[in-house]
Amino acid sequence: MNLRLDDSSITVAIVGCGGFIGSHLLDAVLERTRWRVFGVDLDFYRLQHRLNHERCEFLCADLADPAVVERIAKFPLVVNLAAICTPSRYMGEACEVIRSNYDHPAALAEACAKSGSWLVHFSTSEIYGKTTPDSGELLEDETPAVFGPVSASRWSYATAKLLAERFIAGLPGLRWTVVRPFNFVGPYMDFMPGVDGEGIPRVLANFSTALLRGEPLKLVNGGKAKRCFTSVHDAVDFLFALFDAGSDPERCDGVLSQAFNVGNAENEVSVAELAARMRSIFAKVRGVDVSTLPEPQVVSGEEYYGAGYDDSMRRLPSVEKAQRLLGFKAAIPLDTALEESLLWFVKHYSV
Ligand code: UGA
Repeated sequence: MNLRLDDSSITVAIVGCGGFIGSHLLDAVLERTRWRVFGVDLDFYRLQHRLNHERCEFLCADLADPAVVERIAKFPLVVNLAAICTPSRYMGEACEVIRSNYDHPAALAEACAKSGSWLVHFSTSEIYGKTTPDSGELLEDETPAVFGPVSASRWSYATAKLLAERFIAGLPGLRWTVVRPFNFVGPYMDFMPGVDGEGIPRVLANFSTALLRGEPLKLVNGGKAKRCFTSVHDAVDFLFALFDAGSDPERCDGVLSQAFNVGNAENEVSVAELAARMRSIFAKVRGVDVSTLPEPQVVSGEEYYGAGYDDSMRRLPSVEKAQRLLGFKAAIPLDTALEESLLWFVKHYSV
């Protein structure tokens, strides 16, 4: 695979190009390489500034259409970011969640196996399942996965994602790499309910919305679950480290047929701590005392998300493999990432 960044004959297909991660990846590809981009998504509102770019072609479609899948698999590098990945949908829309996270990626993987494309498939840190407060570092090739029962439909997403990983790993002839994101945050993440989306977004967008509306932040089951929030800019740097290694004949064996955690283990916080940090950042930005903001409220998971909600209590990535094989380590500290995300949210939605 020759993926020199200055080779203008290369086109990368980005599926889910209009989403949170896709929009950042698109900008980085246009800024750091001479590649062309074939971007596929169902909406492109995050890409208004790129729609007429001479090196981009966009297709409004999804992977349910076999003709679209065939077309995508003609490109030498395919990055699949498309997914339904907001927990509030895992309960009521389990079948749709499974189709989007298993059926569609499996079809794309089969097409890439036939065409010989390198498939960089975005999975999730949630495939480590129902972790406990005592779970240690999650290792890509060692940690066992334990899920809740079928009645806890929260796990519809994680089990579909895990099956997609197993399918990809088992497909003869497929050149693949799996990425497991650990709570990426940054500008353009999710949506503001009632403005550009409905339902409950992930925690960062939820807390940002509540702060902007002067409402209390909701701590699900007391906010004891822990996450390692990771800047989307680190995620993009990881992908470039991956592309670089994948195009080096000496190193490409180390990145093909591998799954990588992408997370910042130094950014671990409980959700209650996250709420406290976001309140302080917001108070600083607004020039008010934090005590003037409403106090967070505790809600039960069932009450907030509906029946079948369950949680991972700790998601701490091992970052050793990415460091060893790619020389990559996430570098952006939590407060920097949160401040950037919150400032963007306030500016974007105050208009
Ligand atoms: C989700 C997805 O399911 C993962 O696949 C995805 O990889 C991950 O986000 C991610 O962003 O990388 P989760 O971390 O549970 O998983 O998503 P959030 O909805 O952001 O919830 C994080 C924690 O905050 C959970 O414990 C949740 O109960 C809590 N939460 C969420 C609150 O306490 N209040 C809220 O308003 C929202």
